Amino acid sequence: MTETAIGIKDLAFGYKPSKPVVTIQEFSVAKNTHTFLHGPSGAGKSTLLSLIAGILTPQSGTIEIFGETLSQMKAAQRDRFRGDHMGYIFQQFNLLPYLSVEENIFLPLTMSPAKKNRSSSPASEIDQLLDALNIGDLKHQSVGSLSIGQQQRVAAARSFMGQPKLIIADEPTSSLDFDNRKAFIECLFEAAKSAGATILFVSHDHSLSSLFDASVSLSEINRQP
Ligand SMILES: Nc1ncnc2c1ncn2[C@@H]1O[C@H](COP(=O)(O)OP(=O)(O)O)[C@@H](O)[C@H]1O
Ligand SMILES: [Mg+2]
Repeated sequence: MTETAIGIKDLAFGYKPSKPVVTIQEFSVAKNTHTFLHGPSGAGKSTLLSLIAGILTPQSGTIEIFGETLSQMKAAQRDRFRGDHMGYIFQQFNLLPYLSVEENIFLPLTMSPAKKNRSSSPASEIDQLLDALNIGDLKHQSVGSLSIGQQQRVAAARSFMGQPKLIIADEPTSSLDFDNRKAFIECLFEAAKSAGATILFVSHDHSLSSLFDASVSLSEINRQP
């Protein structure tokens, strides 16, 4: 069993191949750690996350997730792999406003048979996640009526549903003040601990780095040729 959650080698990607956005010789994230990746706006953070999630494919190089090489998979296999093994917290949350909190958190199980199989009791899993993220009282509310901070916690709870081993978070705290960011991140770690999940968390806000096991600057690992 590999101890590496994410392993990147000789990666090159540009939206136009002639104009590389991400060029990384080596970057790895150890299993069961909380890694912080920071860099200024436009540095390529979201692009790198899309490559790790297999939404984008690199022009060259390899990305291994739990020892499986994304570039050896066909597009449909990558979609399945992402659905089965990853949870994604988006900058804009991507919650469905006409569904309740509980229904939003349940969604990943409708999209991944593996997540559905792992979740022997979805109702109690939802309750545990609501507890870990301190939003138990919101269970039946419509997502459209929630504050930004509450939506963030729902998006985080949803990312853990079905016990994916890798949680990818793209600037989920950018609209909160420092105290609320810290509280949110602590909840995230609490949920990760009980799920045995690895977290890769991206932000332009360097001040959060002390909360994490490891902190990496994208500008340091992203070397343009
Ligand atoms: N879909 C896209 N098509 C073309 N260029 C893009 C696209 N998405 C992002 N870019 C460019 O790639 C660079 C990195 O963007 P991004 O990964 O979003 O940075 P960050 O998340 O660090 O702010 C920027 O110059 C951005 O304009
Ligand atoms: Mg971004």
